[in-house]
Amino acid sequence: MQLASSICRWGACAAALSLQLALPSVATAADPFASNNGIYPAPSSWAQPYRTANFAYPQQDGPSAWLKATSGQPLSTATAPAYVMALKRHLEPSLRKMIEAPEAWSPAANGWYDMPWVAQGDAENGREPILGSFTGQIVLKRTFAASGLKVDLQNHTVIYYDATAAGTLRKLWANPMRPDRSGVNFAEGAIIVKAGAVSPTPAEWPVVEGAATWTVFRPPVSQVVAHNQGKAVTWKPELTPLRALQFDIIVKDKVASPQTGWVFITYIHDKSAPGRGAWDKLVPLGAMWGNDPDFARQPDGRDPQGGPLRETWINPDAPRYGLATLGWGGRLSGPIDVSERHNVVLTNGKVLKTTRASSCLSCHGTAQSPFISNLYPSPNRAFPPDGSPFPMFEPGSTQWAKWFANRSGQQPMDAHVGSVGLDYDMLVMFALSNVEAATGNAPPALPRLKAH
Ligand code: HEC
Repeated sequence: MQLASSICRWGACAAALSLQLALPSVATAADPFASNNGIYPAPSSWAQPYRTANFAYPQQDGPSAWLKATSGQPLSTATAPAYVMALKRHLEPSLRKMIEAPEAWSPAANGWYDMPWVAQGDAENGREPILGSFTGQIVLKRTFAASGLKVDLQNHTVIYYDATAAGTLRKLWANPMRPDRSGVNFAEGAIIVKAGAVSPTPAEWPVVEGAATWTVFRPPVSQVVAHNQGKAVTWKPELTPLRALQFDIIVKDKVASPQTGWVFITYIHDKSAPGRGAWDKLVPLGAMWGNDPDFARQPDGRDPQGGPLRETWINPDAPRYGLATLGWGGRLSGPIDVSERHNVVLTNGKVLKTTRASSCLSCHGTAQSPFISNLYPSPNRAFPPDGSPFPMFEPGSTQWAKWFANRSGQQPMDAHVGSVGLDYDMLVMFALSNVEAATGNAPPALPRLKAH
């Protein structure tokens, strides 16, 4: 229960909760290869297609087209901008329409693949039917007060694996009831993308002007906020219009990123960028290929000599709202990634009204099986909505620094309890949690620290 409720707001994982509660036996309870949660709008209200998930993984592993195009050097803040621009160009032919005309785009027709075991859920969890999207946390309006956000926002994301990454999925899920969790090691050149769209209209948040419009079938934000306040809510999904805001690409590239093996990149909507469509207005916010562990024992996470981070590059021309939600010490994190947390209760008793507590790689570095550590540097596995008290270690402490280490993807964060590393992949972690729940092998419980 703790596991599932702690990560419900991230969508995929909540399938674990429904499986645990509803499950008389494994075989009939869930289809690992379902496209969505099976909760559809009335046929009269939606005339466009429903996206079908693509599990037809390639039978042969082929060479990665991207690696042939790279310079073959370790990344630095000087070379990151060119890498980031080239990667987006490389993916444009198959992904421009996923952003700009999502109803007409299909993963199978464009060489992209889905994760099994993450479709099931209630009306606000699992994959919804129109785009196959997952639902994310609520971001409080105060997070973007400076850029004029007038309402709390919610994000919905789609996630796809390229043919190289799908080779790893083919092996992992060869038997969907008995995945070999010890072998999660994406092939060199594997690319995984995640695109996120948010609920505010341009009137509610001017920065989304000119962004692509998507529709998903989810409950409105008001219901989720009421639920977060502890009220009993009967979910009523609606056709919900969204604006595409953030586009992430991660690449397994041990040459560019020898320590973690991954390059994490995000692009965000810039209403004043030139271009013919919303795809062109997704401009780099930055890239990161390590957690800058040399500075992880500093209270502010930065170089005490005043130098810049060495394993994060931030685009100086990125729209300003993107800088409001960078990660700890300025490490990369995107506007929908909720690195900025409010009402954090430190283990030394201090309460921080606002703090930056994460980064792409620190959060993804918790990908291990079983799922035992919080995504944030917290002694507690629970995962409250932003604004509720959230216990965390002291920034710069030994425990905090564990989240900001550089490890290979096969080295789990918590090797001491026998977990295995999942190569920085969150969705694999949630899918495996769902299999474990479905097969009655829930992960071991950790002691909880009660902060309230
Ligand atoms: C606080 C945690 C957190 C942070 C910070 C974060 N992510 Fe994620 N990410 C997740 C979770 C959880 C998922 C699983 C799917 C979902 O719920 O959207 C995910 C999924 C993804 C995926 C799909 C593959 C996978 O691992 O499941 C990509 C790609 C991705 N994130 C990229 C990024 C990038 C790039 C950044 C930084 C700009 C970032 N993420 C920051 C938590 C985080």
